[in-house]
Amino acid sequence: MADAILFNIAEAIILNLGSSALKEIGLLWGVKKDLRKLENTMSSVKAVLLDAEEKQLHNHQVRDWLQKLQVVVYNADNLVDEFQIEALRRRVMPGNKMRKQVCIFFSSSNQLVFRLNMSHKIKEIREALDEIKENRTFTLEDRYEEKELVSPISRETHSYVREEEVIGRDHDRKAILEYLVNVETIESVSFIAIVGIGGLGKTTLAQLVYNDDIVKKHFDLTLWVCVSDAFDLKPVIGKIIKSASNRSIDQNLELDQFQSRLREEIDGKKYFLVLDDVWNEDSTKWDSLSSLLMGGARGSRVLVTTRSEKVARVTRPFQVYHLKVLDQDKSWSLFEKQAFGQRVDIEKSDFVALGKEIVEKCKGLPLAIKSIGSILYFKTPKADWLFFKDNELAKAIQQEDNIIIPTLKLSYNHLPSYLKHCFAYCSLFPKDHKFEVQMLIKLWMAQGFIKADQNQCLEDIGYGYFLDLLWRSFFQEAEKDECGNIWSCKMHDLMHDLAILVAGTGSVLIDKDSINFDENLVHVSFPALAY
Ligand SMILES: Nc1ncnc2c1ncn2[C@@H]1O[C@H](COP(=O)(O)OP(=O)(O)O)[C@@H](O)[C@H]1O
Ligand SMILES: [Mg+2]
Repeated sequence: MADAILFNIAEAIILNLGSSALKEIGLLWGVKKDLRKLENTMSSVKAVLLDAEEKQLHNHQVRDWLQKLQVVVYNADNLVDEFQIEALRRRVMPGNKMRKQVCIFFSSSNQLVFRLNMSHKIKEIREALDEIKENRTFTLEDRYEEKELVSPISRETHSYVREEEVIGRDHDRKAILEYLVNVETIESVSFIAIVGIGGLGKTTLAQLVYNDDIVKKHFDLTLWVCVSDAFDLKPVIGKIIKSASNRSIDQNLELDQFQSRLREEIDGKKYFLVLDDVWNEDSTKWDSLSSLLMGGARGSRVLVTTRSEKVARVTRPFQVYHLKVLDQDKSWSLFEKQAFGQRVDIEKSDFVALGKEIVEKCKGLPLAIKSIGSILYFKTPKADWLFFKDNELAKAIQQEDNIIIPTLKLSYNHLPSYLKHCFAYCSLFPKDHKFEVQMLIKLWMAQGFIKADQNQCLEDIGYGYFLDLLWRSFFQEAEKDECGNIWSCKMHDLMHDLAILVAGTGSVLIDKDSINFDENLVHVSFPALAY
């Protein structure tokens, strides 16, 4: 689903082709006319991209067409980059110095070859674009980008639901605490599993318990490990050691050494370990880990969260806790916070009946409620709410049994295209990655995702983009520094799945199990193997 990204790239290409620096080089190299033609073709392609984006959801011909287009647009982008480098070189090395330096890099005949190559490339790209543009059996309408949806005022007043504002889980928290602290068990270390579908609030509940004072006092050591990916012994042990000692372990060490380090950390201590988001159904793997965990003092507990009952059973827990959806009242409270926040621009009472109908469709799932609430936060007339309920939401819910990915996808569909871009890029990070916000903004800048504006520096605009995504629930677990700026955040695992889905096959994170790649790969990331 590279379309939203294509739209921005096409826009940037057009902007650059029209810049005076590139026009100057075009004139100098005798390719001015070709560049202008390319600009025109690119403009007519761009005009239909937003429509294609919507249509491709239900039409695989449009999807294929967009994929072909993507290759050529990226080539055009590279071409413009080459021109820009040349323009930059001219700026930093003007006059004689420039001439001298260029002579060193390129002999005069090479320069000629270089120009010729460039002129061929422009022609090739333009022809390819023309061919793809014409070669379609479906119709696409010209559309222009929606204006920025978030007004500066709403940015200031909107309060997203913070972690400490967990709604309606007091009973669950107490029940889990009871198992952790008061229930007697035979084994020294015993297991509890929280089971429920994605987006239900398992991790949130585990966090509530983990941070509870009773737990802090009761256990000698508390450890948090997000398992998420493949359940291999070494990485899991590595993460437990890291949580205990706050230091990474050298991944080149043998498994034996991992095991003895783990024993050093936990043996003899009454510990509480959370293994969040476990997917492993292989009992042999689990048994190897659990035998290592047995060295803890009597009363130690391991809390596992998982989407699958089968996974829970593999851990042989003394208690399986089935987390329930939020009831209607709790769902409404969460929705109210998300959809209305501190808004003063609408009369809330007018929206209650309609809002309640919408909440009902979220089936008590906090993640769905949050993300639908965030969409509606940006809609003002009641007619827009009604349209959303009867059309988009109704369609999304029909699509699959599991409502969560379709509802999250709705939030994505509602993003302005420059934010779609930034969000999809996050698929290149591993699951449960802790994003450093400033670093992420720099990466967005490097990719050219951030639209310049005369009044603000790119970093500030990027931070605005980040806040938009956070408020719309694409990020969570935001941590602030002492000045109140958010410096880090995470992404829910289902949001990460959505990012992968929308980024398409052109972006890939390579891990040891990756085997097949798309020939038109554009973004690749290699996560470090440190635990
Ligand atoms: N009871 C709740 N009140 C408010 N927000 C919640 C609640 N439960 C979950 N959330 C929010 O919903 C999202 C998904 O919750 P999470 O615990 O990550 O789900 P799971 O681990 O079951 O997939 C998170 O953004 C979380 O902050
Ligand atoms: Mg979770």
